Amino acid sequence: MAMTPWVTWPALTKFGTLGIMGALLVLAGQREDLLNNNMFDEEDWAGRNAAIVCDQRSLTARTEDGTCNILENPAEGSAHVNFGRNVNPSVAQAETLNDTLLVPNPREVSNLLMSRGDDFKPATTLNFIATAWIQFMVHDWFDHGPRSDANPIEFPLPPGDALGSGTMSVQRTRPDPRVSGTETTVTYENINTHWWDGSQLYGSDKATNDAVRSFIDGKLEVDADGRLPTEFLSGKPVTGFNENWWVGLSMLHHLFTLEHNAIADMLKANNPGQSDQWLFDKARLINSALMAKIHTVEWTPAILANPVLERAMYANWWGLGGDRDTRDRFQGDLDTLNNNLAQLGSLFSLVGIDTGLGDNPTSSIEHALAGLVGSRTPNNYGVPYTLTEEFVSVYRMHPLLRDNVDIYDIGSNIVDTSIPIQHTRDSNAEALLGDAGADRLWYSFGITHPGALTLNNYPDFMRNLSLPFVGDIDMAAIDILRDRERGVPRYNEFRRQIGLKPITRFEDLTSDPTLLANLKTLYSNDVEMIDTLVGQLAEETRPEGFGFGETSFQIFILNASRRLMTDRFFTTDYTDAVYTAAGIDWVEDNTMVDVIRRHFPSLASSLAGMDNAFKPWGLNMPADYQSWSAGAKQDHLWVNGALRTSYAAGSVPAIEPIDIGGLINSVLWTKVRDVTDVTPPGYSKPIHPRGALAKVQFVPSAGHPFTGLFKGADHGLLRLSVTGDPSDRGFAPGLALKLFVDGRRSENISALYTLSGQGSNHNIFANEMSNYVQPEVNETLGTTALFSLVSTKPTLLVMSDMAKVNQDGSGVGSVKAPTQIYFVPNTSLRNAISTAPHDFRDDLTTLPAGTRVYDVYGTSQAIRTSLFPWVTERYARERRDSAVKIGELVTTSAFTLSQFGDTGIFFKHQRYEDR
Ligand code: HEM
Ligand code: HEM
Repeated sequence: MAMTPWVTWPALTKFGTLGIMGALLVLAGQREDLLNNNMFDEEDWAGRNAAIVCDQRSLTARTEDGTCNILENPAEGSAHVNFGRNVNPSVAQAETLNDTLLVPNPREVSNLLMSRGDDFKPATTLNFIATAWIQFMVHDWFDHGPRSDANPIEFPLPPGDALGSGTMSVQRTRPDPRVSGTETTVTYENINTHWWDGSQLYGSDKATNDAVRSFIDGKLEVDADGRLPTEFLSGKPVTGFNENWWVGLSMLHHLFTLEHNAIADMLKANNPGQSDQWLFDKARLINSALMAKIHTVEWTPAILANPVLERAMYANWWGLGGDRDTRDRFQGDLDTLNNNLAQLGSLFSLVGIDTGLGDNPTSSIEHALAGLVGSRTPNNYGVPYTLTEEFVSVYRMHPLLRDNVDIYDIGSNIVDTSIPIQHTRDSNAEALLGDAGADRLWYSFGITHPGALTLNNYPDFMRNLSLPFVGDIDMAAIDILRDRERGVPRYNEFRRQIGLKPITRFEDLTSDPTLLANLKTLYSNDVEMIDTLVGQLAEETRPEGFGFGETSFQIFILNASRRLMTDRFFTTDYTDAVYTAAGIDWVEDNTMVDVIRRHFPSLASSLAGMDNAFKPWGLNMPADYQSWSAGAKQDHLWVNGALRTSYAAGSVPAIEPIDIGGLINSVLWTKVRDVTDVTPPGYSKPIHPRGALAKVQFVPSAGHPFTGLFKGADHGLLRLSVTGDPSDRGFAPGLALKLFVDGRRSENISALYTLSGQGSNHNIFANEMSNYVQPEVNETLGTTALFSLVSTKPTLLVMSDMAKVNQDGSGVGSVKAPTQIYFVPNTSLRNAISTAPHDFRDDLTTLPAGTRVYDVYGTSQAIRTSLFPWVTERYARERRDSAVKIGELVTTSAFTLSQFGDTGIFFKHQRYEDR
């Protein structure tokens, strides 16, 4: 721990609520330091302000170009104002051809470190709406504008490049038109307003704003179908900002244009007689604030899914105590903090944190936990508000893009059409929105995953992007070049500048041997040369749940808060008087789910139970699912399957009786043949219909002879069930275990006590279970006979597949599988549970993560039977006596009861014939 360069606050979360609240204070302290030390202004305000007159309207409305938000310094945050810096200007030196601009060759960085190739790495806790959303936001915040034609940057294609030999040419960023030549730092204009004001919809100048308005009832222009008008030549929508267009942007601009118009309708109904301009101005304020709120309390906690961040973002908007009457979600946490303040210091020293909060953290608490929005005056910490070059840099999130838009029918898990993203660009975007149907696209984006923000995850089309009038470009190479060109420091200096520890070795970043080798070669073993984007994407150590690493996060902490706390319309003027009371309610009471549902009622059932529209809407099994890591597959089934479909308290379905008639041929064959983790369409479980599911780990014992997954498996799912309603044919428990493998199919084993069960004993842990049970002469169910249709040994499951593969996906040379294994229940669990009739699932859901549920024993003695039952018994006893302990099954989550756990998850049986 001591040696790591990474932040330590995430370690506090293991101390429960107080730790989480402590971490929140640490973050607040960091933000305070950043606000005091890391804001550098690059603008001549007097020159800017000279021509600006703030009229009466600007007192209560956002202006088209963003001027007059801060009345004393009216140019602050407006369009065409220069980007500021979060690093000291003395280190923000542009790299040039004479020094390091091309070192190492940006195309080589792209080829070696950025290329995804066929290996798409998904971010499984997010959906693809999150990708389109962040680009939509970025277009509200900033753009460097059209590039310059003069003096392009040229560099050779590296040997063996897929594009052949020759050179690649990249246009330079358009220089700041007002540069005199004497400046020490390079500066660039933001062509959009710096404010969070919806300028991607409303434009950043009067002409664009006029073009999007209908001038009737405060509304934006839409056609008879509610769609945006399009530009004659480009076919792209007429909207505030329409660069880098694709269908994801069409969807969002369409949705929030409709939302604006819905707000305008509401305003007009409440305020008959108000002018078009009045209605427009209010609708813009409300719509912009709604988008800012969705970003703050929904998008951000989805991509930074950590309890500390969830509270931090909630506090950013509302204040944890809840200024508004009904917001008491975290009141309990606040109480814990207040009542235990004295203990915080020792928690901090336990994880080695110097809080920077001083001896008395109380004074910072108010600041940390009070809402930024509403109820306070704007505060720019003495530095006029602008976004910064470093902020632009950390939002280079192109790996979030998939290669294809997969389109599904609403409610379906089956891809109907798959369209390469490059075919969804520019005018194709609007055509697709019409052809595919906006609601189907929203559903499809809702259930598919974006790419993860890691190295080697730029989609290939982005590395070979055709732009009109520009030619073929490589976005990854450009992203690298832009930071160098614009004087954003390289990674290690970037970290030093923003109060983070520099790394000392490449091994600090990643443990992947290939990546390490490539990084070291490319950067000539010099950690100081690592490009800032490369370092950010490489960071393997991330706070739990974080979709990006701490270097990006540090920039984000500062700017995310600053955008809210400097803006008059999020502070002093976030009031009923300026927004109208119904307007404030609209912002406060609506979520992204509400907005989607309002405009696409057909999605109501797909959104059922969703509290965050940016998390995967359902369990979708992408074509490349099997190639994922064991952990990612477990996580996906657990989060998007089990957790998403958990039964609400009080609505757990009763256990149905066995449905013998359902054990039809096709079900039996599917059970022994299909290689899948989820049930195929039309498949249902006629026996064992209800159970409880938990994440488990198989912890191996030392020295046993069995190979493959028997040597250990960290990612498994365990399902405990009964054959059917115990009041029908007695209590007959069963166990199904799935162990995940990196890049390959999972392996499964099931076990029973006996075919007919344990009669009236309702203790699920009463007896050992095994993969082999003896046929029973008077088995009333007749499953043995039925299962004989597909196997000569219907009461045996074999485990050779499980012994053939290790959890990292490597094969085993000399395979050794047990013939029989025994799941021996933990004695204390067994003794704790009643044998009287009751629902066994209630016993399981009380068990915490970390419970050792079974000891597992295995033997390699052959399974023999005799015509004489007593001899068969003796063989069984001998086998059991010869078995040695091979490991333990330990839960890594609580047990859940869910629809997915009952009907969705599939455990393949391996037949004797398939060993
Ligand atoms: C199909 C979708 C997209 C396309 C075609 C696209 C294309 C581009 C292009 C051509 C540029 C300008 C490159 C230059 O400096 O020469 C750019 C810049 C950028 N893109 Fe994207 N992009 C897409 C999606 C995204 C997404 C999802 C994000 C996520 C945040 C993103 C963030 C950025 C940022 C931060 C910049 C820098 C802007 C600036 O320099 O002011 N883009 N993109
Ligand atoms: C080879 C002949 C067998 C066939 C055709 C067969 C078929 C089935 C079917 C159709 C189901 C219900 C549907 C499902 O869970 O997906 C099932 C469930 C189950 N079977 Fe078998 N079975 C066979 C042998 C065995 C044996 C020998 C054992 C254990 C000794 C066993 C243990 C289980 C268990 C524990 C379940 C419940 C699985 C769960 O929790 O999801 N089966 N089997």
